[in-house]
Amino acid sequence: MTQKIIIDTDPGIDDAMAILFAEAHPDIELLALTTVFGNATIENGTNNALYLKQKFNCNYDVAQGADKPLTRPPVGPTVIVHGETGFGHLHAGPMDLDKVDARPAYQYIIDQLKAHPGEITLVAVGPLTNLSLALQAEPQITQWVKQVVIMGGAFGENGHRGNVTPFAEANIHDDPHAADSVFTADWPVIIIGLDVTEESFFSADYLEQLKDDAGEAGRFLHEVSRYYLEFYSDKLGLAGCHVHDPSAVAYVINPALFTLRNGPVRVVLDGCAEGMTLQKTDTRLHGHDEWEHAPKQQVAIQVNDTALLELYRHTLVEYGKS
Ligand code: BDR
Ligand code: CA
Repeated sequence: MTQKIIIDTDPGIDDAMAILFAEAHPDIELLALTTVFGNATIENGTNNALYLKQKFNCNYDVAQGADKPLTRPPVGPTVIVHGETGFGHLHAGPMDLDKVDARPAYQYIIDQLKAHPGEITLVAVGPLTNLSLALQAEPQITQWVKQVVIMGGAFGENGHRGNVTPFAEANIHDDPHAADSVFTADWPVIIIGLDVTEESFFSADYLEQLKDDAGEAGRFLHEVSRYYLEFYSDKLGLAGCHVHDPSAVAYVINPALFTLRNGPVRVVLDGCAEGMTLQKTDTRLHGHDEWEHAPKQQVAIQVNDTALLELYRHTLVEYGKS
């Protein structure tokens, strides 16, 4: 059965990989991209969302969201990873802003969830500011959403603890207060963090093959990923990149690719571990317990990376034929 999703995103090179994956898969109905600051400024991120829509003739709506975090000072665009405007060496010319929905992203999310109760999966692959604003404005969305799938966080599984700091992942570090409110809301959250996204790897060869076999989408992803791969090569000594945002879409398509662990999740809001994510998995009673009243959420701790890479390649190659 087709699944309706909204991707909340900061496009972003691996965001583009995730968006085209969702657009390409026949089981997914991509209703909208709601944009958020993060990899790029909000203006550039929204422009990139419109660029993909036009280039690949997509039907999704675009609604622009938050330009800064709720409380902490902004970290600023991740130019070193995603380039000056978010798509590496590719600078999309200015798109027609009339094509952007008139509502702010959080209101767009509320309206869509209300119109389709129990049907829509929110897939958040950027800072969680829009989702937090939606929760504040309409707490009832927790009853209307089907599930919330998040790329973010790191729990130390498989040795993965952080990418922007030793103990924080970028999306959560960008707005820890928003993330904590999303994880502690009473709705079903599945967290696809570095624990699994850094266990899957798009090698340079894999992306070359996509360029050859997956039509325009393959060529585009190869082109935008040049800058990303330069970062991985220069800073991490790797010939390829981790599979961050596409892993969240992969979960929606085939949850069996992942092993999940249950327990309430909180976020460190400031100090040297700002943005660190922690899941309580034991039942011990403590005198002070900030996890005690938080609902249990699911954290991905293992992934079948071979099957995930096959799913991604197959989906894009088939899309390339259409
Ligand atoms: C996450 O941060 C962003 O740079 C990527 O797009 C991804 O969502 C990885 O930590
Ligand atoms: Ca992202």
